[in-house]
Amino acid sequence: MSPFMSIFVILLSSILIHNLPVASSKQWCIAASNSNDKQLEDNITFACALGVDCRPILPSGACFKPNTTFSHASYLMNSYYESHGRTNDACFFFFPNSGILTTWDPSYNSCIYK
Ligand SMILES: *[C@@H]1O[C@H](CO)[C@@H](O)[C@H](O)[C@H]1NC(C)=O
Ligand SMILES: *[C@@H]1O[C@H](CO)[C@@H](O)[C@H](O)[C@H]1NC(C)=O
Repeated sequence: MSPFMSIFVILLSSILIHNLPVASSKQWCIAASNSNDKQLEDNITFACALGVDCRPILPSGACFKPNTTFSHASYLMNSYYESHGRTNDACFFFFPNSGILTTWDPSYNSCIYK
């Protein structure tokens, strides 16, 4: 590559990098899609028993719909993760095999994943 070409490439990449939306490093802990419902139900019971606020997944709560074990488990896993320092352990240790980290904000409508 010629020196001029290199400078052009460097300039172009810096322009592109600066125009990219700032990538958030925030992560959320949600249920893995290959988890089975029975295990996730155990995880839900466990999270509620440990003091995670389970009201949002009750029929009157913002995260009740969709009314699936998978969705409810995801919400609670993230609440647990959020209230325990957002450490990898908080996602993986208590929910081995069933929790995964994602950089996509899973929030929808008024169901906010903190
Ligand atoms: C939510 O889903 C559970 C399990 O499928 C079902 O038993 C319950 O009736 C549903 N509740 C509502 C309000 O749809
Ligand atoms: C949560 O589910 C996983 C499997 O998906 C299971 O291995 C683990 O024991 C469950 N955790 C609790 C605390 O029930």
